[in-house]
Amino acid sequence: MDFTIPVEKSVQKDTTKRTFDLEKIRSDFPILERKVNGKQLIYLDNAATTQKPDVVIESIKHYYTFENANIHRGLHFLSELATESYETSRLKIKEFINAMSAAEIVFLRGATEAINLVAHSMCRGNFFDDGDEIIISEMEHHANIVPWQMLCERRNVKLKVVPIDDNGDLIFEEFEKLLNPKTKLVSITHTSNSLGTVNPIKEIIDLAHKNGVPVLVDGAQAVQHGKIDVQELDCDFFVFSGHKLYGPTGTGILYGKADLLNKMPPYQGGGDMIREVTFEKTTFNDIPNKFEAGTPNIAGSIGLGVAVKYLNSFDINDIISHEVNLLNYATKKLLEIDGLKIIGTAKNKSAVISFVVDGVHPYDIGTMLDTQGIAIRTGHHCTQPIMRRYNLPATARISFGIYNTIQEVDYLIEALNKILKMIR
Ligand code: ALA
Repeated sequence: MDFTIPVEKSVQKDTTKRTFDLEKIRSDFPILERKVNGKQLIYLDNAATTQKPDVVIESIKHYYTFENANIHRGLHFLSELATESYETSRLKIKEFINAMSAAEIVFLRGATEAINLVAHSMCRGNFFDDGDEIIISEMEHHANIVPWQMLCERRNVKLKVVPIDDNGDLIFEEFEKLLNPKTKLVSITHTSNSLGTVNPIKEIIDLAHKNGVPVLVDGAQAVQHGKIDVQELDCDFFVFSGHKLYGPTGTGILYGKADLLNKMPPYQGGGDMIREVTFEKTTFNDIPNKFEAGTPNIAGSIGLGVAVKYLNSFDINDIISHEVNLLNYATKKLLEIDGLKIIGTAKNKSAVISFVVDGVHPYDIGTMLDTQGIAIRTGHHCTQPIMRRYNLPATARISFGIYNTIQEVDYLIEALNKILKMIR
């Protein structure tokens, strides 16, 4: 069956916004009620993954209870219903990031798969000549380093890295210097997952474009904390994961400008991505189906649409000011602790705080906080080059979401003080 996205209609916009009532918000997330190690859970590992509101959990149950069928393949009632839900979700995501068309929204497993898709497809599609260069930054997640290294191994292409300063700010002049006629792509994070740095992404895109270079933005740590408008940014690709914005794991989005996606060869072969198959030759479907081989994560993608709707039910400025309050308060309180140093003190920061404490291994901090029901992340945060930059084996990291509270920060500080007293 030759399936194309049925309607470029808008999904019904609900312009009335919910009041930012923290108690109510917390009651949307059933897991926040549970105890861990006999203590009330305090979840401060939102940069790794966020918890899920009951509307998202219910949407998955609803799908499997009432709609489950394969999409784009059958004429029967359930298949059409599942297809409609899946494609409506795509429309919701198109509107969430203000893409020009739903065809520019590809459902994938996550931001990692999205970057791999672009790298793999550009490699196969001969987008690079011998000696070309790709620019990334020193603050990238491994997902925005390794796929490009793999590409560089297969083509005679070089990876160039924009350094950061001691605060964790990108050194913009170095970026400027690296851009040259050999630069074929800039692939850069909007917000650092381990330093919290928010990059001047619009300036980066504008400068790259002035030099005729397309830009991929890794938005995995940005899309849940502020408004993203891909047309305003004018980025060429924007990738993010669903599970970091209150959606299901195993979901994610590649946004790409249609003219680029149309020029790129498929990433994987299989069902749904073809127009016609013969043993001699196969022709491919239009975008986005060309990049969605096989049965996708239908339930998850529908759940992601619901997560986006949930997030959209709030005024984004309320979310921003709540998270900025948490960030400022926690930063101030942490800095009062003797021997504690924050890693990542950029001018413009997101709700992420990495820290180390003199003489105490971050793993000990993480393990002992866990005994108090407090979940934080410790380690290199999939950013080993950053750890090397600061000459650290690891950091402890707290990261906030929509449901965190000032009281939780107070509990964290109290628990940290107790732990450090014990260790010392
Ligand atoms: N990239 C995720 C993190 O920062 C897993 O924790």
